[in-house]
Amino acid sequence: MFAKKLSAALVSVALLHHSVYGLAPPMRRATCSGGQSVANAQCCQWFPVLEDILPNMFDNECGDDAHGALRLSFHDAIGFSPSKGGGGADGSIIVFNSTELQFPANNGLDDPINTEVPFIEKHNVTPGDFIQFAAAVSLSLCAGAPKVQFMMGRPMPTGPAPGPDGLVPEPFDNVDVILARMNDAGGFSPTDVVALLASHSIAGADDVDPTIPGTPFDSTPELFDTQVFIEVQLRGTQFPGRQPGQGEVMSAVAGEMRLQSDHLMARDSATSCAWQSFAGNQAAAQSAFAKAFNKMAVIGHNPTNLIDCSDVLPSAPPLPASAAAHLPAGQSQNDIEQACATAPFPTFTAQPGPATTVPAIPQA
Ligand code: HEM
Repeated sequence: MFAKKLSAALVSVALLHHSVYGLAPPMRRATCSGGQSVANAQCCQWFPVLEDILPNMFDNECGDDAHGALRLSFHDAIGFSPSKGGGGADGSIIVFNSTELQFPANNGLDDPINTEVPFIEKHNVTPGDFIQFAAAVSLSLCAGAPKVQFMMGRPMPTGPAPGPDGLVPEPFDNVDVILARMNDAGGFSPTDVVALLASHSIAGADDVDPTIPGTPFDSTPELFDTQVFIEVQLRGTQFPGRQPGQGEVMSAVAGEMRLQSDHLMARDSATSCAWQSFAGNQAAAQSAFAKAFNKMAVIGHNPTNLIDCSDVLPSAPPLPASAAAHLPAGQSQNDIEQACATAPFPTFTAQPGPATTVPAIPQA
């Protein structure tokens, strides 16, 4: 008894000592069975999941499955409103898919859901945790992506996101509607929302124009770079398909799709300067995206009830030297539609040669 009391007293003295001198309290790290060191032993269970999904779910590449996993994490998390309900990042999009997949904004998410369900069952983790883990892992496959957090401990969802729709932004919504929705769901600022759209640098559309699945939103959909912020600011001249889909506007580059929502974000006075600030500024885009993504991943939860397992996540490779921010071939600085009123759009050099067509993203 006395010994117990004494050791408790010693621990508190030790903690006091560390906080007095500004040092973090000593952490008891755990070693997992594979030899990895983590801050919390409960995080060890994610290493076998990681080692399985990298090759078997993602083919170790920043391709269609990685893009789909990232989009799914957004559509699950955003299904929350303080006034309308919903559990946020709770896996309801999987467990209650018969309701949520009826919402038109969730078109096409049957693909990543079908991909993820067998892995969720195999590893016996909650769908809410798995969706956010898979998204964080997908980022680690995309060169240039920042390190994000992964928090575990989301319980099973208790019901679907409220319908009949309206919580997931649509590409034909205007900027005011999207900003209001994002603020309601997670307190995101306009800059947070623009930063989250860096995700569209590793993305494309299958269903906006279903005749051309896998049409990318920028010329480098396998890289988390800032090309989307540059290319969406260029004057639109063409549609990649025969007819525009709902929420699609003309893009500047053949083979590339531009969402009306991205186009308006780049030009609206509430968001255009934030949009422009990320063009060619990889470090700013990375840190603002990571901050907003980490907030998104815990919508509907009290983070103090979750365990930080970020140390399970690999880091993405850096952008290759050949991936410097640029204008696509055939474009010039005059093709930039200046929108920010307080600073000029940064200057970029065009890739040499005649204009080229961006190939579709190979479908999984
Ligand atoms: C806020 C407004 C947003 C709108 C209106 C929007 C809209 C869209 C649309 C229409 C698509 C194409 C879907 C298809 O036809 O296949 C798409 C794809 C995608 N979006 Fe968004 N999005 C938004 C925000 C986000 C956010 C916050 C993220 C993640 C952090 C995200 C990640 C993605 C990804 C990764 C894809 C590509 C999916 C794939 O290639 O399979 N989006 N988005």
